[in-house]
Amino acid sequence: MKKIKNLNWWNININRKKIRSDLVKSFDKKLFSQGEISKKVENEICKKLKSKYCILTPSGTSAIFLSLLYFKIKINDPKKNEVIISDRSWISPAHAAYFLNLKLVFVDTKKDKPVPDENDLISKINDKTLCIICVQLNGRAVDVNYIKSKKKVLILEDAAQSFYSKTKNRFIGTNGDMGIFSFSMGKIVTSGQGGAIITNSNKIYKSIKLLKNNGIENRYVDKWNSPGLNFKFTDIQATILLEQIKKINETKKKIIDLYYFYKKRLSDIPNIELVDEKLVEGRIPLYIECFSRKKNLIFKKIKNSEKMLRVNYQSLHKTIYFKKYLGKKKSFKNSDNYSSYSFYLPSGPDQNIKKINILLNNLKKILS
Ligand SMILES: Cc1ncc(COP(=O)(O)O)c(C=O)c1O
Repeated sequence: MKKIKNLNWWNININRKKIRSDLVKSFDKKLFSQGEISKKVENEICKKLKSKYCILTPSGTSAIFLSLLYFKIKINDPKKNEVIISDRSWISPAHAAYFLNLKLVFVDTKKDKPVPDENDLISKINDKTLCIICVQLNGRAVDVNYIKSKKKVLILEDAAQSFYSKTKNRFIGTNGDMGIFSFSMGKIVTSGQGGAIITNSNKIYKSIKLLKNNGIENRYVDKWNSPGLNFKFTDIQATILLEQIKKINETKKKIIDLYYFYKKRLSDIPNIELVDEKLVEGRIPLYIECFSRKKNLIFKKIKNSEKMLRVNYQSLHKTIYFKKYLGKKKSFKNSDNYSSYSFYLPSGPDQNIKKINILLNNLKKILS
């Protein structure tokens, strides 16, 4: 098998020259804690996603924490302490709920997609439900408007992996009471670490702003209007983000082109397939997720597989300290299937196709 040097599972391209000069400008202004550029980014996100309000946060995790904290304060009923969530998710929404003393109700995914069926989510709603977290995994959408049409329930869209993806002509994240995004390194746009909350409700917007700014409304008047913490953003991160948001259509195209490249190449390799054989209109498949019963063999045979490929994380119900939430339901057949046999191939808008071709040739040798 041919050797491959420096192929990482994720690669993005950041325009260093442009960002460097913008960063100098930001330093010159000497007001880079949530200054003008952060505001510009919030406005740009609103414009791009057709959302009324946007609030930047230090990470996607903190955006989720703030959103759940808001729901908890708004409902103010200790009996309403259950959060319904897909069993397939990055751990953040579950940890945020855990620290807020909320009980997690896990829902298995569909057989052919690692997101739950809307009716399964609805069937779990009861008197104790605080909210549903729709984890919009890798540009896929749980139909929030369908759930809303069937039941009155608060919905947080965890769209950390789905910034700029669309469903039914609307941007993912804009259909729930709130939507959150992550701008960590492995995302379509990144500020190193970062996140955002979007909402169309002025009431939610004002409350979240107080929660993230120590309860202060006006930065020049130190008056605590309500309890709050410090979840502020900086203009240094905003500067890095702004440039990428401006050219997001270019980045989107590169990600979609990469998906079609893999689709073509994998059709010729046995025992491995893309998780999604078809690209649903509007979806940006940020990560190239594939499925193989021979996953363990692949990871054993490919040198540096831990850097080049990414194991898909374990399902939430497998987390030891969540066992107490499981009750009678211990089997999550579909989500277990994904965690056992799916993984990511090298993804991102700036991958080296030559190197990926060598990897795929090696995979073909292993799997034929
Ligand atoms: C589905 C999901 N939710 C939440 C997060 C948390 O975002 P962050 O890493 O910015 O805290 C991530 C991060 O990748 C994620 O994939």
